[in-house]
Formats: sequence, C-alpha cells, structure tokens
Amino acid sequence: MRALCYHGKGDVRFENVKDPSILEADDVIIKVTACAICGSDLHLMDGMVPTMKAGDVMGHETMGVVVERGSAVTKFAIGDRIVAPFVIACGECWYCKNGLHALCDRTNPEGADLQKKQIGHVTAGLFGYSHMYGGYPGGQAELLRIPHASVGPIKVPDNVSDAQALFLSDIFPTGWMAAVNAHIHTGDTVAIWGCGPVGQFAIRSALLLGAKRVIAIDEIPERLSMAEAGGAETINFAEVDTVYAALMDMTQGRGPDACIDAVGTEAAPHGALDSVVDNIKTHTFLGTDRAHVLRDIVRCVRKGGRLSVPGVYIAVVDKFMMGAFVAKGLTMKSGQTNVQAYISPLMKLIEDGKIDPSFVVTHERPLAEGPDLYKTFRDKNDGCIKVMLRPD
Ligand SMILES: NC(=O)c1ccc[n+]([C@@H]2O[C@H](COP(=O)([O-])OP(=O)(O)OC[C@H]3O[C@@H](n4cnc5c(N)ncnc54)[C@H](O)[C@@H]3O)[C@@H](O)[C@H]2O)c1
Ligand SMILES: [Zn+2]
Ligand SMILES: [Zn+2]
Repeated sequence: MRALCYHGKGDVRFENVKDPSILEADDVIIKVTACAICGSDLHLMDGMVPTMKAGDVMGHETMGVVVERGSAVTKFAIGDRIVAPFVIACGECWYCKNGLHALCDRTNPEGADLQKKQIGHVTAGLFGYSHMYGGYPGGQAELLRIPHASVGPIKVPDNVSDAQALFLSDIFPTGWMAAVNAHIHTGDTVAIWGCGPVGQFAIRSALLLGAKRVIAIDEIPERLSMAEAGGAETINFAEVDTVYAALMDMTQGRGPDACIDAVGTEAAPHGALDSVVDNIKTHTFLGTDRAHVLRDIVRCVRKGGRLSVPGVYIAVVDKFMMGAFVAKGLTMKSGQTNVQAYISPLMKLIEDGKIDPSFVVTHERPLAEGPDLYKTFRDKNDGCIKVMLRPD
C-alpha cells in the first residue's frame, strides 16, 4: 500500500510500505476513506518528538471501511464504515475502566521502558506517533490495522459524511475534553489561546457546555474569522500591546473564569519577550518547549480560575509561574484525550445537528499530495486550517 512516511525533520514522503495484517483476534483492518493532518503531527515533522524512525507511517486521524477482521471481532462487519480514536486502549485495565483511556496500562509495551524512564509511568499507545508511544503504524495510508477494535472505533451512520465523522478521531473530542477540563459553569467567560483546529472545537464545545462568552486568541486572520463564525470574540495577539491588557479590558479587570491553552509547545516565536527567549533556547539546546502560552494563562485567568491544557508539551518548561499559580489559587488539568470516553456522545451531537465538524476543513486533497500539504498546514499558507486527505 502507499502511505505518508517520516524521514527526518521536515521530510514526509508518499511511498510504498508493507500492507498491514491481522495480528490479534480483536484487530480490524480498514480501507481508509479519509484521514487528516493534526497539529500534533507538526511536532513530529519538526523533529521535536524523539524515537521516530525513518519510514514510520504517520497519521492518527483516520476513518474507513472494514475489509478484514480478527476472529474475536463481533462489533463490526466487513463493509462497515468506522472512525477510530487516535488513542489505542485495552478497555479492561483500571484506567480504561475509569474513562482514562489515554492512560491505558496495556497498549504501549514497545515504549514502556523509555516512557517509564522519562515520565515515571507508561501511557497508552497512539497511532503513528513514535516508538515511545508504541510504534503503531499510522493512518495516513491506504490501509490501517486497528488493534482493540472492540474498544475504540464506532460505526458511522449513513447520513453522517466522512468530513463530519473524521474529527471524532481526535480534534473534536480534544476540543471537548479541553472545555470539560476547564470545568465550565453556565455564564462563564472562557479565553482560548490558539484558533487552530483544536481551538476551533474548544470554542464550540465551551459554548455548548454553557459558557456565555468565549474570547479566542490567535494572529492568523482566517483562523480568527472562523473563531468568530463559531461564536467567539477575538484578540489578535500581534495587534495588541499584551493579551493580558486586552483581556482585562474585556472583562472589567477581572480576567476570564477559565483559560484554555490550545497552542502547546510551538507557540509563535514572536509577540512577547518570553516567546523570543524560548525560541532562542530551543534552537540552542537550552530548552525543549516554547511555553509562552502556559505563562500567559496563569497571568490572565481570574483569581481562583481554571486552566485547561490540551496543547502538547515535550519535556521541561522554563519559568512557569508557580508562585502566581499558588497565590491565585488556580487549578490546571491536561492530558491526551480520552477519545473512547467521548466519541459516542459526540457522534450523537453530530446526528442531532448540534454541531457539524466539517466546518473546519479548508483543504480536501488526495493522499499523494500529503507531503506538500504538511508544509502548507505548518506554514499556514493558502488559508489552510485543516487538511483532509483521501487515498483514492
Ligand atoms: N491533548 C491531545 O490529546 C491533543 C490532541 C490533538 C492536538 N493536540 C495539541 O493541540 C495543539 C493545537 O493543535 P492544532 O491542530 O489546533 O494546531 P495548530 O498548530 O494548527 O494551531 C495552533 C494555533 O496556535 C496559534 N498560536 C501560536 N502562538 C500563539 C500565541 N502565542 N497565542 C495565541 N495563539 C497562538 C497559531 O497561530 C495556530 O493557529 C497542539 O499542541 C497539538 O499537539 C493535543
Ligand atoms: Zn492529533
Ligand atoms: Zn487499558
């Protein structure tokens, strides 16, 4: 089959790889009908995630039609159209039973030693996301093997299109969990840094969960426009003195009740002094993360407020304002998304017409154009907000 493969920093290739086969009784193989490039794939492409190997198949937002199934699979029949979480979870361990599928104890034997050394524990395997996360081939491909098929994926109803269902694999549940982790109360004001795909879904999720005002922050005009179309007020961080001053102005000096960091480690290397310093440090091996947004949310949120961090960080964050965090009495939640816990209720929201996730797609193209589109998405060229790829 053909797939998008990693070949080092900035080098994604469309090439021939071995077809997957059924390895366990609970596996299915799908013929991919649609897949997408995620902001998290950019960390791979930018060489920020260790343990990627040349030739690794990338991609973790994927759906398709079941073409083969293991002997234990009864949930799906050949020909079913399904969408798969990016997280691989066993469904049986303590974490899975408690809805914490991204922390599954059993699906990352390959990365276990390394992860234990780095973070003290082992988390779930992820599709196409390095050998530290299990070394599972990804779904930017013509075919994908899905382990633990009875746990993660769900069937897509006929009246739900690929573009509506695909983002249940990651960014819709991620935006949703970001809003859930912000513990939104009816009437809250929520500020969201980053109007990429995750930020866009966080905006809509926060409003669906009862926020009265959402203030979204970015610098890319078309992303700010899409945020406004979703019901947010916006701040262009490149056009204000500081985001802090703008937010205080907009909230009578109180600050937002909750702040969401939907940017992560690759915050723009401009716009604030610490962003410039972070950039120099990461380029000179003196730091691993550009953590400006983490500092900004601590400073901006109201006293006693809540912070939610879906944005991904790599290792050690410099100059986190722990003093302010304690003095202001803040709470922070984060994590890879427990997609399995949200995928069915969110499919119901789509079926009920509460949200149509296809709004986010700006580029629908053949899989073969993937290498160029990785760059278009990374560089935010051509109005690109979300790329959906079709193998055919
Ligand atoms: N927790 C999870 O399970 C999970 C799942 C998917 C994605 N993510 C992470 O979420 C983050 C966002 O993903 P995405 O697909 O939306 O990526 P993206 O790169 O398309 O979006 C990031 C946005 O942040 C904006 N930005 C940069 N610096 C900023 C700043 N200082 N202030 C405000 N905005 C700024 C950029 O202009 C861009 O629009 C990434 O870190 C990604 O890895 C996490
Ligand atoms: Zn992702
Ligand atoms: Zn488990």
